[in-house]
Amino acid sequence: MNCHSQVKEQSLKLLKVRQSWATGEPIEWVKVHHLPDYANFSHSVHVNSGVGCETCHGRIDQMEVVAQQEPLSMGWCLECHRAPELYLRPEDEITTMGYVQPADFVERNLATIRREGIQPPTNCSACHY
Ligand code: HEC
Ligand code: HEC
Ligand code: HEC
Repeated sequence: MNCHSQVKEQSLKLLKVRQSWATGEPIEWVKVHHLPDYANFSHSVHVNSGVGCETCHGRIDQMEVVAQQEPLSMGWCLECHRAPELYLRPEDEITTMGYVQPADFVERNLATIRREGIQPPTNCSACHY
């Protein structure tokens, strides 16, 4: 409420935030993207290794209501883990929507992958305990 005690104080869309603040009841989070509990996933590793939000979540900026764009299936995870050079982007483009890769992006990514020793796991126990 630091910001919203001053910004858009009357906004209907923020009513839930004001109510939650007043009552101490957390806002119910409607999850759209949901992996089963037996699959291990961390955002930070991905974002820090050059996977853009858009690659996994699609054009969130153009969605009136957020919907899941990619299957989030095991095959989908592995498709990228086996060939990350086809997906990575520069660090300062992680949150860019509508990013267009340069023509030589695969070569650039292969160089980054070598330089930083990026090696997404394909062994079962990396994703399943
Ligand atoms: C490698 C793919 C991948 C990338 C990159 C990624 N996400 Fe996610 N995101 C996921 C998955 C998978 C889940 C579901 C996780 C779960 O259920 O444990 C998720 C869940 C979320 C959620 C909760 C959504 C919901 O439906 O409740 C938010 C918010 C989110 N991601 C934001 C981001 C943002 C912002 C970025 C970029 C900075 C980002 N993600 C990058 C795969 C990704
Ligand atoms: C678009 C590419 C991409 C997708 C999609 C993707 N990953 Fe990854 N994943 C990576 C990269 C890149 C790394 C970092 C490897 C490194 O730094 O050596 C990584 C690392 C990981 C790691 C290792 C974490 C660690 O601590 O070292 C796990 C576990 C993982 N991913 C799980 C998943 C799961 C589960 C999904 C599907 C829901 C998924 N990933 C989808 C690219 C991807
Ligand atoms: C990169 C991450 C990753 C790796 C590596 C991985 N899995 Fe998975 N696995 C997943 C995710 C994510 C799901 C959940 C998919 C879904 O919800 O559709 C899953 C689902 C499963 C399921 C449940 C399928 C079902 O239909 O209910 C089994 C069984 C499984 N994995 C076995 C394995 C085995 C065996 C290996 C090694 C050969 C392996 N996984 C490697 C990410 C991974």
